[in-house]
Amino acid sequence: MLVHFITDEPTKLPAIRAMLEPRHEVAARLLGDCDAQIEPRAVLVVDVDLRQASRIDRLRLALQRLSGTRHKLFVVHNHCGTMTAQACALGATAVISSAKEAVFRLAQIEEAHTAGQHKLVVPSALTDSAAAFASMFLAVRAGRPISLSDANRATAEIIERVQQSGLRSYLDEVRRYHQGTFQHCLLVTGVAVGFGIEIGFAGIDISRLGVAATLHDIGKGCVPLSILDKPGRLDATEDEIMKRHPGTGYDLLKDIPGITPEILDGVRRHHEYLDGTGYPDVLTSSKISDLVRLLTISDIFAALIETRPYRPPMARDVAYQILCDMNGKLENSLVKAFRSVALAA
Ligand SMILES: [Fe+2]
Ligand SMILES: [Fe+2]
Repeated sequence: MLVHFITDEPTKLPAIRAMLEPRHEVAARLLGDCDAQIEPRAVLVVDVDLRQASRIDRLRLALQRLSGTRHKLFVVHNHCGTMTAQACALGATAVISSAKEAVFRLAQIEEAHTAGQHKLVVPSALTDSAAAFASMFLAVRAGRPISLSDANRATAEIIERVQQSGLRSYLDEVRRYHQGTFQHCLLVTGVAVGFGIEIGFAGIDISRLGVAATLHDIGKGCVPLSILDKPGRLDATEDEIMKRHPGTGYDLLKDIPGITPEILDGVRRHHEYLDGTGYPDVLTSSKISDLVRLLTISDIFAALIETRPYRPPMARDVAYQILCDMNGKLENSLVKAFRSVALAA
């Protein structure tokens, strides 16, 4: 397979050749030296420091010239949240943690090409959704207003994907190709949409629930990356900072034209529990709407089945049992209805 490799670090050029050749034909270039047109069947691997604005601009230019490829693998070391967001915003079809991982991904792509299953390898709708999440995340980081059209675009694509492929295939795909905060947001929205479909919501209600899910953790865009990307348990101070995200999300969204009270409610209240042990407003059952109840169940379940670099994903039946054991915090009848969503075959 032909692999185009772009990097900003000259020492990485011989290293990638040594790793991929002779199995693949490697065209390795330094950033700023990318005039070639790429063949549509080639794979692009990008290993560039995306924390530097000048390099992002040069890469954006290079990618315009190399727009023919369907496969764009971006190397993001240490799962850095901002770099992952930039990679998604630049159209990454997969974010990988090291150049070594490219070897494995290329084998997957090759296998799917041989089997004629291109769609399994390039989930284009999810790439667009991840780009929309990235755009919102970067806007929050830069202090710019969030675009509701990004949230609507991501939600519409996720609804279409869950309806077309089913929830199980959607969840597997998200966990295979996305990391960290984006993986969580993509999972919560897919699960919430699947839940809405399961309980017979009308299309407009599925969309409302889906947009609330898409935006529910937008306040995490203001949490320092050292806390957001910490590989392990948060200490008490970090936990206190993290717990500000529902209120922050509400503040970020409340003045945006077109935002609805139901969506604001979902963003602010998705960590409230019926027994009054949640946050930030310590509400009890009568103050917690149906949409919030659905969203909270979807959020907890998605967090449990996520893949993390430091632990394997929890099996869905085990995660569902944890929901069943949260006595008094979640609505029992909804947890029961959620069973077929959680265990979707
Ligand atoms: Fe949250
Ligand atoms: Fe969440």
